[in-house]
Amino acid sequence: MADTLTIIDNRTGKQYELAITDGTIRALDLRQIKADAEDFGLMAYDPAYMNTASCRSAITLIDGDKGILRYRGYPIEQLAEHSTFQEVAYLLLKGELPSEGEYKAWVNEITHHTYVHEYVNRAMDGFLYDAHMMGKLVTFLAALSTFYPKSKAVRDARTRDEHIVKIIAKMPTLAAWCFRHSTGRPYIYPDNSLSYCGNFLNMLFRMGEPKYDPDPVLERALDVLFILHADHEQNCSASAARAVGSSESDPYCSLAAAAAALYGPLHGGANEAVLRMLKQIGSVKNIPSFIEGCKDGSQRLMGFGHRVYKNYDPRAKIIKELAHQVFAVTGKNPYLDIALELEKIALDDEYFIKRKLYPNVDFYSGLIYQAMGFPVEMFPVLFAIPRAAGWLAQWQEMLVDPEQRIARPRQVYIGADVRDYVAIDKRGAGSAS
Ligand code: ACO
Repeated sequence: MADTLTIIDNRTGKQYELAITDGTIRALDLRQIKADAEDFGLMAYDPAYMNTASCRSAITLIDGDKGILRYRGYPIEQLAEHSTFQEVAYLLLKGELPSEGEYKAWVNEITHHTYVHEYVNRAMDGFLYDAHMMGKLVTFLAALSTFYPKSKAVRDARTRDEHIVKIIAKMPTLAAWCFRHSTGRPYIYPDNSLSYCGNFLNMLFRMGEPKYDPDPVLERALDVLFILHADHEQNCSASAARAVGSSESDPYCSLAAAAAALYGPLHGGANEAVLRMLKQIGSVKNIPSFIEGCKDGSQRLMGFGHRVYKNYDPRAKIIKELAHQVFAVTGKNPYLDIALELEKIALDDEYFIKRKLYPNVDFYSGLIYQAMGFPVEMFPVLFAIPRAAGWLAQWQEMLVDPEQRIARPRQVYIGADVRDYVAIDKRGAGSAS
């Protein structure tokens, strides 16, 4: 059986044979299909990229129907159980798990790039005390590009490596300082004797104590959450990193764009939205009326549904389990009972079953973050720290892919046909909608 697709254009009666590779046809192969010599050629129309592969990628595999998520072939469940976030970042970026020596060198390098320019500290004061932490993070990610103008040499592999390490190292510092600014506490400088997550907790929560001693359960829980959030193939923010990076923008600006995409409530802002929703529901007795509102379309059940997972989100399973370990240390989150009941009711409801809506990664992560002492505004920031590793892996893969060019979608123009300019005094009352 030939791996081809035969197309008959009924406008002309002509027949075309298009190659099928990896379950796809090349959109550009459609261009040869023309109604007449003047015709531009056929295009695919795909708003929101529902069925368009924009790249060939070897980083992350998701099988939404089977609930599978793998980084470089390794199942997420195994990585969450045995690996660390820094090892996963190495895996995503370099393609293989590191040897012991490679791992030590990688961790050492990241540990020694955690400081940020003092100007960040001063510039932070330009924000209002109640500025959203994600808005600050997006700003400072872009601002770092002005500190590292040499990062613009994106075609140079060594330059890329250098700034990849800097970004992974500095994300927790930027994030923690955004948090400290909002809470009016003095900034805490990195402690190189602590782990990646231990140091992050130190920069977030240390007060008068001379040496911060992170709780090992919370330190590991954060590490697991970071592993689960590290990459998710061509999602909205990774696509933003690729699109902006495709114009050869530096990695800091490309990642600022990705973080801006993550900020939205339909993407990384969803865990924040889940907590607000649980607060709004307030009590288990209000769940049925809330569910009715979701079904009549007046609101969404936040933390439910996914563009790709139509069975279950494997990360949600791991996080649910993790939540109990965290609550054993922090005490139970008061919203847990509402969340459990909401999940139970929704999973039994015909509306959600028919539409294949299951809890996603955000449904329980917010409860954990809140129990650990994070305000809701910090949730997308916590998502952005590990996802930076994925964004960088996607950005780098895009740059070294010889098939990639500056991202530039086509459009189907549906506006007015050509018309003559009308002087303002001749336009009447105006009719533009
Ligand atoms: N609550 C109620 N109904 C929903 C929900 C929801 N959370 N999600 C989808 N639906 C319904 C839609 O109304 C639609 O119903 P219809 O066919 O009767 O019109 C149907 O399910 C399909 O929904 P779409 O919006 O077409 O699905 P899409 O794949 O575009 O959206 C998304 C996926 C954005 C995640 C959506 O499910 C949603 O808004 N969920 C809530 C927000 C959320 O949790 N986002 C986090 C995603 S995970 C992440 O980014 C890390």
